[in-house]
Amino acid sequence: MRTVIKNGTVVTAIDTYKADVWIENGVIVAIANQGFANATADVTIDATGKFVMPGGIDGHTHLDMPFGGTTSSDDFQTGTLAAAHGGTTSIVDFAIQTKGEALRKGLDTWHAKAEGKAAIDYGFHMITTDVNDKTVEEMGSLVKDGVTSFKLFMAYPGVLYCDDGQILRAMQRARDIGGLICMHAENGIAIDVLVQQAVAAGHTEPKYHSLTRPQIAEAEGTHRALALAEMAGTPVYIVHLSAARALEKVVEARDAGLPAFAETCPQYLFCSYDDLERPGFEGAKYVCTPPMRPKEMQEDLWRGLRTNDLQVVSTDHCPFCMKGQKELGKDSFAKIPNGMPGIETRLYLLWDGGVRTGRISMNRFVEITSTSPAKIFGLYPRKGTVAVGADADLIVWDGEKEHVLSEKTLHMRVDYSPFEGKKVKGFASHVLSRGKVVVENGKYLGKAGDGRFVKRSTFSL
Ligand code: URP
Ligand code: ZN
Ligand code: ZN
Repeated sequence: MRTVIKNGTVVTAIDTYKADVWIENGVIVAIANQGFANATADVTIDATGKFVMPGGIDGHTHLDMPFGGTTSSDDFQTGTLAAAHGGTTSIVDFAIQTKGEALRKGLDTWHAKAEGKAAIDYGFHMITTDVNDKTVEEMGSLVKDGVTSFKLFMAYPGVLYCDDGQILRAMQRARDIGGLICMHAENGIAIDVLVQQAVAAGHTEPKYHSLTRPQIAEAEGTHRALALAEMAGTPVYIVHLSAARALEKVVEARDAGLPAFAETCPQYLFCSYDDLERPGFEGAKYVCTPPMRPKEMQEDLWRGLRTNDLQVVSTDHCPFCMKGQKELGKDSFAKIPNGMPGIETRLYLLWDGGVRTGRISMNRFVEITSTSPAKIFGLYPRKGTVAVGADADLIVWDGEKEHVLSEKTLHMRVDYSPFEGKKVKGFASHVLSRGKVVVENGKYLGKAGDGRFVKRSTFSL
């Protein structure tokens, strides 16, 4: 089976050039602008006037995740199908260790959730909630099986939280086995006090979710995570960074030459504290953690993306419906399940609000949505670029096509869109997963189970 994408402009993290991309058995076999005139293909995709880019890699999703007294509303079937529609061709989701149980048991549970359901390829990070002798030992066996990153939480005491000693031990082990620690960096112990005080004072509306999680709680957590990583002598990746003061800590560490990395998410670039103040209970749609920040902070994050102090934009896709889920917190913001939908809209928002506004180049767009996460999470060069030998996980991108973001037309299984009614330009006319066209002009052509588990390499940059 031979496919050719003809007449497009290839965009990678470093290059932009006109070429045809030839695919055989799911892999790119040639990129040529001449000399293949006589070659024939079984499938020809005309990309005239469009860009050919590596599919998005979303390194932070929570599908089918029990959390906040409910379960995230997208499972591996609906979530990965929505991802594919939005031009994302790989995700790395978070498996969870239940306290008192083995890492492997949690990982097996997530394998079972994904098996036979995914539309695109997927890997797992392991959320490590119980760092003890056995867990530390077991981390090595997960790395051997291609689960090469571990998320630790400084937030959510009593649920996912680890103390500094546990974090240091996990970091030391990660250093020895080539693992990467991903850190939810917020001072959860202090935040819980602020939350209890706010609730006791009758402050129950959604906006208090942000007011009880001040940016200093994130900056302090980020600083502590970086300090612990320095003590352990290991790289660290700060997830879902939202606060300018937390970014300052990352900049400081990187300037000192430390292997510190960080991602932000579209909700922090395009939404703000003002959304939490929407009338009635509407603010609940924007409750995620870390919380929405003042609007001015968005420009700090854009600057971080331009200067490579932030290397990745992932989604932290963790959707909960308003009906029956977010409304669990009608009487208290502390009971609103934390998380927002985003797996489908990341590329649209970043192209429209990043590339089209001149904040980032097309190449930087590719880098922060695909190439960098591929490199950081051990998927490169198999994924994350357009190159001979790489998986043909590709999108044909129409940079001018306008469409409206709406819960009615998006594919995520959630009853609202944080961006309802927003007009954006930029759309994937074709989405290829290992050479197979899975979405063409908005029509899904794949089937559940097309996506495979991908073993990831150990950390090296
Ligand atoms: O609000 C969020 N971010 N929910 C998902 C869990 C997490 O901390 O990433
Ligand atoms: Zn988190
Ligand atoms: Zn998350």
